[in-house]
Amino acid sequence: MEALELETHRLLLVNPTLVARLSSKDVKYKGYTIKEGTIIISNVWKLHHDEKLWGDPWKFRPERFLDENGQLVSRDHPYRTSWMPFGIGKRSCPGEPFARARYFLFVATLLRNWRFCPSKDQPLRDYDPRHLENFDLEFSIRPKPYLCRIEKREWN
Ligand code: HEM
Repeated sequence: MEALELETHRLLLVNPTLVARLSSKDVKYKGYTIKEGTIIISNVWKLHHDEKLWGDPWKFRPERFLDENGQLVSRDHPYRTSWMPFGIGKRSCPGEPFARARYFLFVATLLRNWRFCPSKDQPLRDYDPRHLENFDLEFSIRPKPYLCRIEKREWN
């Protein structure tokens, strides 16, 4: 479930450029001088889809976050340190633990009880986020509504 969640947020960031920030004073960072009053926009979209890091960044492959024993790769693995849909540092999202716990419970409950299948009335939608025509772009990105068939899972 955690690998599924990490991969979902990696592939399709809710806020691809996080929240824009304004430098309150001159700052030196890694050889760059960021002047007071500069607007800073973080391109996390690029980080999450960097071919050099991920190899196949446009594929949905939750297992990339698992090691050979089926455990999540450690927190210092480059996949985890480069994963930042909630931002990073002291202005990162304070709702992250809440949102992630909700996501876990909500999605696990749905998947435990229901099987989500392609609809017979609509071809399967391409999920590649480079094809923006399939997404609604407002404050955040989300897939356009689509049909799917939901079947009850039977557990004996
Ligand atoms: C999937 C769900 C969510 C995502 C992807 C998300 C993402 C983000 C991102 C990217 C930022 C900006 C971080 C930065 O600029 O470094 C942010 C800020 C913030 N988020 Fe969330 N968020 C989510 C849910 C929530 C929830 C549930 C709450 C509150 C209960 C919340 C409250 C806030 C607040 C107050 C800020 C501003 C923090 C600041 O500027 O100091 N978020 N969020």
